[in-house]
Amino acid sequence: MVNTSVELCGIRLDNPVIPASGTFGYGREFAELYDINCLGAFSIKGTTREPRFGNPGPRIAEAPGGLLNSVGLQNPGVDAVISRELPELARVYAKKVLANVCGFSVDEYVEVAARLDREDIVGWLELNVSCPNVHGGGMGFGTSCAGAAEVTREVKRAVKKPVIVKLTPNVTDIAAIARACEEAGADGLSLINTVLAMRIDPASRRPVLANVTGGLSGGAVFPIALRCVYQVYEAVSIPVIGMGGVRSARDVIELMLAGAAAVGVGAANLVNPYAARDIIAALPAEMQKYGIDNLEAVIGGAHNG
Ligand code: SIN
Repeated sequence: MVNTSVELCGIRLDNPVIPASGTFGYGREFAELYDINCLGAFSIKGTTREPRFGNPGPRIAEAPGGLLNSVGLQNPGVDAVISRELPELARVYAKKVLANVCGFSVDEYVEVAARLDREDIVGWLELNVSCPNVHGGGMGFGTSCAGAAEVTREVKRAVKKPVIVKLTPNVTDIAAIARACEEAGADGLSLINTVLAMRIDPASRRPVLANVTGGLSGGAVFPIALRCVYQVYEAVSIPVIGMGGVRSARDVIELMLAGAAAVGVGAANLVNPYAARDIIAALPAEMQKYGIDNLEAVIGGAHNG
């Protein structure tokens, strides 16, 4: 009998697998397919103060080993999330969620985070300072130490629950941004968000995405995620949720060896809606294959010796 449980900022999870924000809706859709209480936790769709329709289409493009999205933070807004989505979710899900918070100003992050902080089902606030698909917000805050730190510091003043800052890989030195967030009071970090990318249609000679660029996710980005988690683990002492192209139980173990305390599953959910459930089911056998009894004990194991 192996032990798959891990702790994330003071909350114990049955296993480290967390469907990533934007790939799992508000949970309801997946609850129609399987009992989502098997998850360690999951992160809800990025939520802003006002409802957003997102970017014009096309906003999805295929790529070798993954896909590009330029959704543009489509979401119903924090009022609807609190009055409709979270109560619906509570009917089918007994665990905690990460509330993914987005904004176009520091005030917006603070207000949305403070409102979600009061919801019982919210265990952690995940500050999305890394969306590459919007202008004047998102990644705009996460590409500088000062911007990421300011959002973190102001939100921390306004909330009680653990704050996890979601980082972009689209920077020269992700470890420096991670350190700035830790110094500003972050309780944890999640990384990586998508990699800025594009496709061009040779027939029309135009970019495929209406927004020109989008974020690449899927198996192609897994080695980038692994490298980022490895570097950030060496730079900070707060827990890291590793994500980016995770498709298997072996990927979960690799990311944990790099330093992840928990692991996000993103694009894989879009290819196979049962992906997170299947990875959880495969974890015990994969652990036994590598002689692991206690999954938590492998965190950061690749840094030893
Ligand atoms: C989007 O809504 O554009 C994707 C969310 C993100 O990358 O943070």
